[in-house]
Amino acid sequence: MAKLKKSPARRVNELKKALVEVKLSGRDNSGAGYTIEPAKGKLGVMIPGMGAVATTFVAGVEAVRKGIAHPIGSLTQMGTIRLGKRTDGRSPKIKDFVPLAGLDDLVFTGWDIFEDNMYAAARNAGVLERDLLDKVKGRLSAITPMKAVFDHEYVKKINGPNVKKGKNKMDLAEQLRQDIRDFKKSSRASRLVTIWCASTESFIKPKPIHQTVKSLEKAMYKNDKNIPPSMIYAYASLMEGVPFANGAPNLTVDIPAMLELAREREVPICGKDFKTGQTLLKTVLAPAFKARLLGLSGWYSTNILGNRDGEVLDDPGSFKTKEESKLGALEHILQPALYPELYGNIFHKVRINYYPPRGDNKEGWDNIDIFGWLGYPMQIKVDFLCRDSILAAPIVLDLVLFMDLAQRTPELRRLGIQEWLSFYLKSPMTAPGLYPEHDLFIQLMKLKNTLRYLKGEELITHLGLEYYD
Ligand SMILES: NC(=O)c1ccc[n+]([C@@H]2O[C@H](COP(=O)([O-])OP(=O)(O)OC[C@H]3O[C@@H](n4cnc5c(N)ncnc54)[C@H](O)[C@@H]3O)[C@@H](O)[C@H]2O)c1
Repeated sequence: MAKLKKSPARRVNELKKALVEVKLSGRDNSGAGYTIEPAKGKLGVMIPGMGAVATTFVAGVEAVRKGIAHPIGSLTQMGTIRLGKRTDGRSPKIKDFVPLAGLDDLVFTGWDIFEDNMYAAARNAGVLERDLLDKVKGRLSAITPMKAVFDHEYVKKINGPNVKKGKNKMDLAEQLRQDIRDFKKSSRASRLVTIWCASTESFIKPKPIHQTVKSLEKAMYKNDKNIPPSMIYAYASLMEGVPFANGAPNLTVDIPAMLELAREREVPICGKDFKTGQTLLKTVLAPAFKARLLGLSGWYSTNILGNRDGEVLDDPGSFKTKEESKLGALEHILQPALYPELYGNIFHKVRINYYPPRGDNKEGWDNIDIFGWLGYPMQIKVDFLCRDSILAAPIVLDLVLFMDLAQRTPELRRLGIQEWLSFYLKSPMTAPGLYPEHDLFIQLMKLKNTLRYLKGEELITHLGLEYYD
């Protein structure tokens, strides 16, 4: 059947309409270029949870500052960004393209239920060798933890003495707010960022009290059991205008009340759960299967790890929180509703086993059952002998620097959720009703295009027809 031709007048009208829409939304493809406030002064990094990840991050930054190590794995430090055409030869380092805080400008503090300073905690975590830790001992020993807000009901496997007391959860939030103000003053930081590196809390679902700021605050006064410590830290941070990133799978900022608070106060938030080992590979392999339309019948993932995180995850409540976070990725990447013959019947299982001899050196096995042409089955086995905190530390650094960039960029901070940082997260937060992007390469493109957009550079679509004109 012949296609109906559009009349010239109708085409002109359509074009006019499209132009008006672009103007109204202010979002054409070339990137508008937005004001980013300069990264002047020090950036204070506040870390609830001074365990393996936090100490590996801080010790690493100190080692890089001293020139004795490279920031491997950090996009902000080593990554480049292509600008313009492939033939232009413009690929600056990301840190030279957008104004990020320099490593020399970072100052650190944290909260923990144990009293160990960062050097002792790093020794205890057993991730980095003593030789390296001793070279940065002075700086690490000077960071002692503030008293934590802790609830044993939410982390059943550990208990410690360095804990705040308060008449209710709002009182505890007030104490944290005071800590934040005191640190800002004593460190003379011009800006702050909070990043949750504390233990994974027991699984909870959003309740009516999590729906609005008002209901949350009321519930804090009433000591409602559905408010875990991570929410109290997040509330305190946002009330102080400090961005909050969540490195664990806890609900924390992923509730309507926190989104409301973040938007009202124009404070960036992001989460959940650092995307480090097994899920990183899952979000690389699954998109490859989908791209080639290879079917998937099962994916069995198991882990052994022996650090404190592994011990905490040995509790069924904390494991459930982690499990939910790890399971989501496949469903969203493979879109079974669109490809029922390929992905309509997947058996997906995730296990984490606490095995002390391994310490932080986790081993993650994946058995993947796929099928190809005419339904013939094949198997893939992945055995990733990784180091959990070595993979997590550069993510912490990048999130801190990018969250600080977001707080200096009005166009970003007023959004609340920073979805462009999904690249770093296992279970990324999105606007209500929007499904998350899990594919690592879509996430990277989203991140880099956001930076291009902020700087008024052309977005890269990889169309490339112009090279053949
Ligand atoms: N390492 C990774 O690859 C990775 C990946 C994704 C997520 N995570 C998450 O990051 C978090 C940290 O991991 P880790 O290996 O450093 O664990 P860790 O057990 O070594 O450190 C966590 C620290 O948090 C402290 N803590 C617990 N509750 C607290 C509270 N309410 N306030 C202050 N401190 C508290 C603990 O005492 C401990 O020192 C965990 O939730 C983990 O699930 C880690």
